[in-house]
Amino acid sequence: MKCTDAVILEQKMLVPEIYQMILQTEAPMCAMPGQFVQVQVPGYYLRRPISICEIDDRQVTLIYKTVGQGTGTMSQMNKGDILNLFGPLGTGFPILPKDPVLIGGGVGIPPLFETAKQYRSLKKNVTVILGFNTKEQIFLAERFAQLGCRVIMATMDGSYGIAGTVMDAMHAESVSKEFVLACGPLPMLKAVSAECQGYISLESRMACGIGACMGCTVRDSEGGSLRVCKDGPVFAIGKAVL
Ligand SMILES: Cc1cc2nc3c(=O)[nH]c(=O)nc-3n(C[C@H](O)[C@H](O)[C@H](O)COP(=O)(O)OP(=O)(O)OC[C@H]3O[C@@H](n4cnc5c(N)ncnc54)[C@H](O)[C@@H]3O)c2cc1C
Ligand code: FES
Repeated sequence: MKCTDAVILEQKMLVPEIYQMILQTEAPMCAMPGQFVQVQVPGYYLRRPISICEIDDRQVTLIYKTVGQGTGTMSQMNKGDILNLFGPLGTGFPILPKDPVLIGGGVGIPPLFETAKQYRSLKKNVTVILGFNTKEQIFLAERFAQLGCRVIMATMDGSYGIAGTVMDAMHAESVSKEFVLACGPLPMLKAVSAECQGYISLESRMACGIGACMGCTVRDSEGGSLRVCKDGPVFAIGKAVL
């Protein structure tokens, strides 16, 4: 884990409010899928946690949604600008000798891309269930297909794929619930946790990102507390109280 300046190689809008930024770091960065970086957006004291979508030697891809001032400023940055990254941080999704089912919703989808890449490089069969509100919001789906994943799509308004949630799609396609890796909004993670075995990645408001400030804690199912930045963000299903 360390701070590194990174040059923006590419910045583009994938769909409204969702941007893809490709950066080149000073030195190679080695990360587990599911880990994140704390991005120092110029002009803001607190860093913004963003998951690593793809990593290859010195090249890091982040996909982020513009929700507030920090991500809004990020989206105004251009090719050649410098961003300081702190990371990789947190725990990643485990890479086990199994065929995983990856379930993602909205901006929970990016960390699943590197996860899929690593499982495909081990020749595992990867099923991906992606949930969006509408067809217009779909991103990354084609790239999962290009990796050789089985891709199942769900949209809440029924404009593409199966109408309903990722769980509706899971039921409709009789997908195995034995080894699931999921990232997305809390209601989705609760639904996944109620039926599946595996791991989920949680979000929490963060400050330090390294386990020191206790600002990101959630309750442990055994009565203690867990820091999302350091003990997570990836937890075995059932470990954290949702
Ligand atoms: C481990 C982790 C991975 C994440 N990965 C991604 C990703 O890959 N793509 C993506 O679009 N978003 C991701 N997020 C959410 C992202 O961090 C927030 O959307 C972002 O920090 C909002 O910053 P802002 O300045 O635009 O919003 P503001 O609301 O103006 O932010 C104010 C403060 O609250 C914090 N904050 C606001 N929302 C969140 C949030 N949801 N989680 C944590 N801190 C928040 C900000 O960091 C900032 O310090 C992730 C969050 C976590 C915890
Ligand atoms: S953000 Fe400080 S302990 Fe997690």
